[in-house]
Amino acid sequence: MHAVISLVGPPGAGKSTVGRQLARALQCPFRDLDAEIERQLGTSIRRFFETAGEAAFRDIEQSMLSRLIGEPPAVLATGGGAVLREQNRSDLRNHSIVVYLRSTPEELFRRLRHDVQRPLLQVKDPLQKLRELHEERDPLYQETARFIVETGRPSVATLVNMILMQLELANVIDARHVASRANAKPAPPTA
Ligand code: S3P
Repeated sequence: MHAVISLVGPPGAGKSTVGRQLARALQCPFRDLDAEIERQLGTSIRRFFETAGEAAFRDIEQSMLSRLIGEPPAVLATGGGAVLREQNRSDLRNHSIVVYLRSTPEELFRRLRHDVQRPLLQVKDPLQKLRELHEERDPLYQETARFIVETGRPSVATLVNMILMQLELANVIDARHVASRANAKPAPPTA
């Protein structure tokens, strides 16, 4: 693998969880944009949103993204809003291989209904908010990504294997360099 692999998608899509396992399979470092920002800020993103506002956060997000994307090959989990700025979208497209973890607002709501960390979802009707975010951002994720993986019911291991398969088919990675297939259990039957 010769480039950074970036994961984009909405909050709750599994970018960090899937990214960590993908990096393990590819035997490369895992980087998390939000975690690096929090480390630089010395405070949580939620708190920074409250004190400095979203625009200040987006400035820091942009400069951290352009820094991480220029580093040696790694798997990079981005934040859900990283695709909002045109500059970020072109950085992601031109300097990394972008995978979009796509989900429905209903599925995201199911996963995030107890979340208290994500500032944008601390509203009266988080499902409605997730629908608005989807409407606004789905086209941005799509125009930025080279690969799209529908999340939903599959386990993390299954998702990782789906991504590995797409990357292999497109010759982005060499099958011989994959440490091992993630141990995929079949998804539970749906009623
Ligand atoms: C945001 C998503 C968050 C974080 C910040 C803003 C967004 O990341 O970057 O709270 O605009 O959707 P996750 O996608 O990891 O929740």
